[in-house]
Amino acid sequence: MDKLISNKGSTIQSAVPESYILPPERRPSVVPPCKTIPVIDLQGLDQDRADLIQQIIKASQEYGFFQLTNHGVSEELMQDVLVVGKEFYDLPVKEKERFYSEDPNQNCRLKSSINYDKEKVHFWRDSFRHPCHPLEDYIHEWPQNPARYREVFGSYSIEVRKLGLLLLDLICEGLGLEYGYFGGELSQVLLMSINHYPLCPDPSLVLGLPKHGDPYLLTLLNQGHVAGLQVLKDEQWLAVEPLPNAFVVNINYMLQIISNGKLKSADHRVVPSSDVARTTVVTFISPFKDSLIEPAKSLVNKSSPPLYKSFRFIDFLRAYITDITGEGIDPLERFMV
Ligand code: OGA
Ligand code: NI
Repeated sequence: MDKLISNKGSTIQSAVPESYILPPERRPSVVPPCKTIPVIDLQGLDQDRADLIQQIIKASQEYGFFQLTNHGVSEELMQDVLVVGKEFYDLPVKEKERFYSEDPNQNCRLKSSINYDKEKVHFWRDSFRHPCHPLEDYIHEWPQNPARYREVFGSYSIEVRKLGLLLLDLICEGLGLEYGYFGGELSQVLLMSINHYPLCPDPSLVLGLPKHGDPYLLTLLNQGHVAGLQVLKDEQWLAVEPLPNAFVVNINYMLQIISNGKLKSADHRVVPSSDVARTTVVTFISPFKDSLIEPAKSLVNKSSPPLYKSFRFIDFLRAYITDITGEGIDPLERFMV
């Protein structure tokens, strides 16, 4: 529990502890806000379905990232999860303690950094994470304090899941896969991660999250109004500008593999701020651990041979954790043909 940065209080306000300081070559450079990451407005879905699908596929090929506006999740819910998520981190240590765990198999888990006991340098992030679907299987494990936690995250997880499945349907159509390709076990797991990046006395020395791709199918990030996320495009870091009530959506490794490399999972990282703490709500749509992952058969042929092997999702996850906290190993490499 003393590993959480949000519990270190005044001891971290004056100087960054040694164990968080990155070697100079891994420290973040200053990156100006970027207006080129595609912004897709879902408003016109009924009139311009084909056009929107093209926008989503193009953004997913070129950036692996896009922002989504008029997506149907209410502004009130978008705001409420950020407020309640922050309230959770503001609770007294005693209240949060019951969720703190170093066991990666615990469902509802508060932890710090990524792989605290194994990593060489720690990252400036705490995270509280739990599955959400089906709701009735998990909601009783969630916090009862803050008082609105279950109600707000319950409604939000249902809405975000609906939106995520809609996006997967549009991607399915755009890739020319058979109807409902992602609707089964590939998308049955829904994980919520409430990330907290406390104020940092010197953000030039640390990272909130190191360069990584997300290991699941699709991510929908509600980043609020505080900047900090950066995306790697053509070897340049681009800062993702916070847009009010938008989702930042990114293609994950499993979607890159299933699309046989047509869609790209882009590397991203997080820099903390010295002015304001940042709390984000991240939703991952994921396959089951034992789901078989492979390039979709209909996308593979003589002129477009499979780029990746077939494997169980759990085998990828096991390799992934050790790879991203290390230096520069691409977790996909082991799964290439
Ligand atoms: C993640 C992630 C970004 C953020 O949790 O995988 O990239 O801004 N989060 O919190
Ligand atoms: Ni990520």
